[in-house]
Amino acid sequence: MRQFERYLVTSALPYANGPLHIGHLSGAYLSADVYVRFQRLMAKDILFICGSDEHGAAITLRAAKEGIQPKEIIDKYHDLFQKSFSGMGISFDMYHRTSDPLHHETSQEFFKTLYDKGEFLEKESEQFYDEQANQFLADRYITGTCPKCQNENAYGDQCERCGSTLSPTELINPKSTLTGKTPKLRKTSHWYLPLDKYEDWLRKWIDEGIVDDVELHDPSDWKNHVLGQCKSWLDGGLQPRSMTRDLDWGVDVPATIPGSDGKKLYVWMDAPIGYISATKAWAKENNGSWEEYWKKDDSALIHFIGKDNIVFHCLIFPSILKAHGAYVLPVNVPANQFMNLEGDKISTSKNWAVWVHEYLEDFKDKQDSLRYALIKNMPEQKDSEFTWGSFQEANNSELVGNLANFINRVIVLTNKYYDGVVPEFDEDMDLIGPESQTEACYHDSELLRLFDDLHVLCDAIRKYDFRGALKVLMEISTKGNQILQFNEPWKKQKELPESVKVVMNLSLQYVTAISVACRPFLPFSSDKLREILNLEPIKEDGEFLDLLNDLAEGIHPLEAGHKIGAPSHLFTRIEDDVIQAQIDKLGTKEEEMENPVKTEIHFDDFLKMDIRTAQILSAERVPKADKLLQLEVDLGFEKRIVVSGIAEFFEPEDVVGKHVCLLANLAPRKIRGVESQGMILMAEDDSGKLSFVSPNDGWPNGMTIR
Ligand code: 2FM
Ligand code: ZN
Repeated sequence: MRQFERYLVTSALPYANGPLHIGHLSGAYLSADVYVRFQRLMAKDILFICGSDEHGAAITLRAAKEGIQPKEIIDKYHDLFQKSFSGMGISFDMYHRTSDPLHHETSQEFFKTLYDKGEFLEKESEQFYDEQANQFLADRYITGTCPKCQNENAYGDQCERCGSTLSPTELINPKSTLTGKTPKLRKTSHWYLPLDKYEDWLRKWIDEGIVDDVELHDPSDWKNHVLGQCKSWLDGGLQPRSMTRDLDWGVDVPATIPGSDGKKLYVWMDAPIGYISATKAWAKENNGSWEEYWKKDDSALIHFIGKDNIVFHCLIFPSILKAHGAYVLPVNVPANQFMNLEGDKISTSKNWAVWVHEYLEDFKDKQDSLRYALIKNMPEQKDSEFTWGSFQEANNSELVGNLANFINRVIVLTNKYYDGVVPEFDEDMDLIGPESQTEACYHDSELLRLFDDLHVLCDAIRKYDFRGALKVLMEISTKGNQILQFNEPWKKQKELPESVKVVMNLSLQYVTAISVACRPFLPFSSDKLREILNLEPIKEDGEFLDLLNDLAEGIHPLEAGHKIGAPSHLFTRIEDDVIQAQIDKLGTKEEEMENPVKTEIHFDDFLKMDIRTAQILSAERVPKADKLLQLEVDLGFEKRIVVSGIAEFFEPEDVVGKHVCLLANLAPRKIRGVESQGMILMAEDDSGKLSFVSPNDGWPNGMTIR
């Protein structure tokens, strides 16, 4: 295997058009995080890069639907993503965004280089145009029936039911998603990447890991399902693929290119270049070299993605990188398959999802419980399933029952027997375990076993078998429990205190090793455990390597004489009612959700409102309007007429004298011929019943509310 000096790990840039759910986490983020944390613990030079994917039709379509600008959407989700990722301990070195000017420059430079090198094919073709919306319809702007599986809701670029990649003109009965109208064909010109021309080298690279006679990677390290998808694409024959779109949101085709007017880069051209822009942003902030990671042969580029992104990362982006010329190709693309939820596909529109930001609110300090359940069930080779029941079981039986229980017993007993000081033991007494018949030294042989197990764990992570690695971690904990169970220090402490010291010292070595080995999977618990052990927090700077080296040399990771801290529970049980509440939440559609909070606004927006205390002086019904009362209100400094829709709930005589809050700078509006000069604030309950929002009686009129 080639030796690499440095690693660049990327996780797919999530589209900034909706919150993250557990399917995202278990696909491209937790897997990468485990891998990266592990390599840092092995003292590797590794960078972990991600960012928000802020272009593409999914975002512009949503903006159009909500009548807002794309910027509002991407800002909202970019912020939420950052909170969700950091809340779950996903430890990016850089989380960037594709709306950043640095990214626009970088992707334009790429496009221009490919253009100047003559890599693109410029081609005029007929594409669907929505005459009502006045725009071309690419990708998700068009739906119709899939010619392959007859799914009536296929998109212009892809059928989500059968997974086929489509072009809009293949759709049967195409409709514009903007207006629902049948679009017309119109001529337009675009730049195509001639994937068909790259087919030979792509095939050799995928099948043999060889490019230009140089062996770059061993294809047997790649997952079968990834190779399978690539091969089926190649066998189907690649077609030139357009790298531009007629859109008004995205990265501009560089203005120096003739015909660039109104053209944007295809989102799947700009998004993966986002990995490069993000590395540049990291380099700027950290005074590092982005080029080392992207351009040196001894750099390993690894893309963590979900299976729907395989073609883009294994065929299209590598083609872009190679066409440019100066860049390394990925050494692996360990894509994960999909995670289902309680027997169904995760679906945003059906709210069939566990949202990361909601989990973080509902389960404070239980990030590692979710990390554990997701890694344990990671869809590494095939689709997997998350159920709240299995989450609860994993937490209660495995994390609480096995891991936390072992650690707690060791810490409690050490405090009890030795006042928290790691006991020294007499080598001559070290013949108490199952190995005593063979006269092997118990402490040493058990540490050797631990050493072997840790190696198995490391190998599994290197092979992207995170489920397997997590299993080994739990087996180490099980063995720790067995050491206690077998030796029963609580029974022997009185008669055989010297033998118990061997057992307790050994158990403490196990706990210390776990504090390092659990780090890639359970970083929050690793921090807590280091505190319990009164050891330095882990900085992910070679600590796993040190642990292995120590064990290899017979050095104990935790020295005798070290004073540990007090016991504290690493994990706690999750009860049935908490789980049931989560199950009940599934499938509640947004429309059914009680009064969802509106899109976030800035403080400046709030400051624009001038809300004042006021008092109603008189009230009368507005003729022929059942719901309206015409009110005269006193603002202290002036009197106003306000028309208010409260007549269903209040008689005029009920409201005279009421202290109210008035939005005083609302533009005047004519309602039923009466000019209303402001708006009275009311609270509304679920049934639509209204109640006044009132300052205290006797409060002066005209005071500002903020
Ligand atoms: O599927 C997605 O969510 C895409 N936004 C992934 C992009 S990955 C990369 F190429 F940027
Ligand atoms: Zn289909």
